[in-house]
Amino acid sequence: MQNGKYYIFTYGCQMNVHESEKLAGLLEERGYKKADKPEDADVLVYNTCCIREGAEQRAIGNIGNAKPIKKKNPNLIVAVCGCMTQQNGVAENLKKKFPFINIVFGANNVEFFGEYLDMFLKQRKYQRNILDEKTYQSSTKSIQMIRDDPYSAYVNITYGCNNFCTYCIVPYVRGREISRPAEEIYAEVKELINVGKYKIITLLGQNVNSYGNDLKDNKTTFPELLETIANFDGDFELRFMSSHPKDLSDELIDVIARNEKISKAIHLPVQSGSDKILKLMNRNYTREKYLGIIQKMKQKIKGLSLSTDIIVGFAQETEEDFEDTVSLLKEVQFSNAYIFMYSKRKGTVAEKMEGHLPIEVKRERIHKLLEIQKEITNNHFNSLIGTIQERVLIDGETQTLYLGKTQCGKVVKIKKEKELQLGQFVKVKITDYSGGNLYGEVQ
Ligand code: 5AD
Ligand code: SF4
Repeated sequence: MQNGKYYIFTYGCQMNVHESEKLAGLLEERGYKKADKPEDADVLVYNTCCIREGAEQRAIGNIGNAKPIKKKNPNLIVAVCGCMTQQNGVAENLKKKFPFINIVFGANNVEFFGEYLDMFLKQRKYQRNILDEKTYQSSTKSIQMIRDDPYSAYVNITYGCNNFCTYCIVPYVRGREISRPAEEIYAEVKELINVGKYKIITLLGQNVNSYGNDLKDNKTTFPELLETIANFDGDFELRFMSSHPKDLSDELIDVIARNEKISKAIHLPVQSGSDKILKLMNRNYTREKYLGIIQKMKQKIKGLSLSTDIIVGFAQETEEDFEDTVSLLKEVQFSNAYIFMYSKRKGTVAEKMEGHLPIEVKRERIHKLLEIQKEITNNHFNSLIGTIQERVLIDGETQTLYLGKTQCGKVVKIKKEKELQLGQFVKVKITDYSGGNLYGEVQ
């Protein structure tokens, strides 16, 4: 058993956040305790992301900051893992740039970090282990995770992605889609419910809607999986991410609509409002099909709150294509949109396309779209004034206020009038929206 401390830097999506919970579990199994700051750590882990160039640059900058820490503590162990290291030649370049790195492993072998660490401690020799694909065995290895959030827990349902959107590096670094058997997912969710404190359970996959396509025996579809879990006893809310519009079925919309425990905050990345760009992106749906799904959801799902992802400045995007995205945002009125500038990724189909746009054009478009969405978001939250939010999770407090979160993750400030427990769901009437916060009263 070790008696040192660890600190994990996590970049990127929820999948990485969840994988860092596994890394923390493996470290704590070996006796390490969490450090408050990187300077106090004996093991530093960088769980990287490579979805956009900015994410890579952030990680590289921070790995560089380990140098002075290592100088002060020569026994410091530096490990780098995650999507970035899965790319060809990156592990080698990182080691060259930062010779103090001791362990490198990929996103597909997170579960084996403990073994790599043990080996390093034994041999004191650089460890490099990167697997091209996640193996089923590794995905089922049982790890006591150290979950980050006291009230909310992630559960993997699929790993990898088969979609090959032309801009995206994920299928190259995370490999083909693998679904976890439904029974294994049910067991993990039941265990979480039994712990009692987890009020929000989020099912994770790159494209949850294609869950089960690769399962040979006992084929379970995503709507079936979702409804089975929603029928488990217990006071919890069920969420999922991410959904791909091409696979979103009417059955899924019905399951969401009829099950009270399933969150009505739905994240449905559209990426662009232009058919030409959607085709170039290999998204496999049209603007019309996307808007059709949205219309159905709006009709059937009471209390629906929609969010999306958008990429601006994709190759060959004209002013007209961009305006199609603007008009889609205005038409749908998402409560929130995560807007990104297209970033060229090595080895993807889009990298080799003609007609890449200059950075100035991308910048101008992203600023314009962010401004438009800001107004839509403000209108959305203003429109909530006077409504009753059925399930607000109380997850913080100050001297005078309780802090809650709505289903779509928006903070609600509630005056301390009656006593509430942290980790409790309450019904809240929204009374105001100002300074980016909702204000409410418990009903
Ligand atoms: N450039 C910009 N944004 C990207 N995303 C994925 N790949 C890229 C890229 N190369 C965005 C998409 C996706 C989200 C997770 O990240 O919008 O939905
Ligand atoms: Fe990337 Fe598309 Fe797969 Fe999402 S669905 S991870 S955007 S390739």
